[in-house]
Amino acid sequence: MAGHHRRAAVLCGIGTWLPPRVVTNADLARQLDTSDEWIRTRTGIRERRVIDRGMSTSVLAVEAGARALKSSGSSEVDLVVVATTTPDHPCPSTAPEVAHRLGLTGVAAFDLNAVCAGFVYALATAAGHIAAGSAERVLVIGADTFTTVLNPLDRTTLAIFGDGAGAVVLRAGTPDEPGALGPFDLGADGSNADLLIVPAGGSEQRGSGEPLDPADVHFRMDGQPVFRNAVTRMSESAVKVLDRAGWRVEDVDRFACHQANARIISAVARDLAVPQERFVLNVDRVGNTVAASIPLVLADAAAAGDIEPGHRVLVTSFGAGLGWGSTVLTWPELDLG
Ligand code: COA
Repeated sequence: MAGHHRRAAVLCGIGTWLPPRVVTNADLARQLDTSDEWIRTRTGIRERRVIDRGMSTSVLAVEAGARALKSSGSSEVDLVVVATTTPDHPCPSTAPEVAHRLGLTGVAAFDLNAVCAGFVYALATAAGHIAAGSAERVLVIGADTFTTVLNPLDRTTLAIFGDGAGAVVLRAGTPDEPGALGPFDLGADGSNADLLIVPAGGSEQRGSGEPLDPADVHFRMDGQPVFRNAVTRMSESAVKVLDRAGWRVEDVDRFACHQANARIISAVARDLAVPQERFVLNVDRVGNTVAASIPLVLADAAAAGDIEPGHRVLVTSFGAGLGWGSTVLTWPELDLG
């Protein structure tokens, strides 16, 4: 098995889109018993974007997907994967319609639900299709409108989550070129499924024969164990993927963590004994955008010059499920639009 003959998935385009409406901490404090100071000091978040009436996940996904295709220099792909936990409908999946609206009718398309780890799971899935030879170019979109499942009375989750979308194009290439993804580390722990959950709306509730409790259609989170798990799972997953890649922690120029809470990211930096400056951040402006988080922070950091071509980048994510995943790449030259 000569390693240099292995097909790798190579990042060749990136694009993002945020709904225009900004909701600041002060806006939230006008409706709920919270304050800008509380939200900033506990989470690092200053504002987030929220969809307007008439928008949905597919709208965000199409905008980000179109920008990623343009950035890649070609509108042709043979697979579209949409990582989302807030699809437009319970059935069918969102990806076929997104592909259709991108002019890709007929191309293979499916959704992948791994919540906040969804984008890394989708990258791994797309890379697997490329490695297997079943795809040459894949559009991977992370898009969520998580504000649509939040309880309008829950100050904790309203402070944290925002809506958004980010996308990349992967093409078949070789492992030694800039932009080549992998290895990956993926994991899950269903014993903690109830730490972050929307209880109703699925087959368990629909099949129960019990009347629907309206409160159960909203997302619930047990913040403190989630915080602890986020730190441990991302730190451990980062160590595993570094080991697989044969990189030392000090070889990594930039760490791109799932943007859930700036304090979680600081704790991961401490665990890994890495200076905070190597961790890219945009949680202050977007909050936790679920499956969109990773492509949004990568694109923002690249646009700001904080991630540069040639940088060795480690990506790690964690979310409901529980689920987590990491990968590494050397940042390529990209058209950032
Ligand atoms: N504004 C003001 N007060 C708030 C608040 C808000 N937005 N949200 C919660 N509080 C209150 C709580 O009700 C609690 O009040 P009490 O002591 O009277 O009961 C108090 O603040 C402390 O709550 P606690 O949960 O101990 O705070 P914390 O320091 O753990 O911070 C989180 C709460 C949610 C910010 C934190 O646990 C966290 O970030 N968890 C991880 C969440 C996450 O990342 N989820 C997504 C994973 S992908």
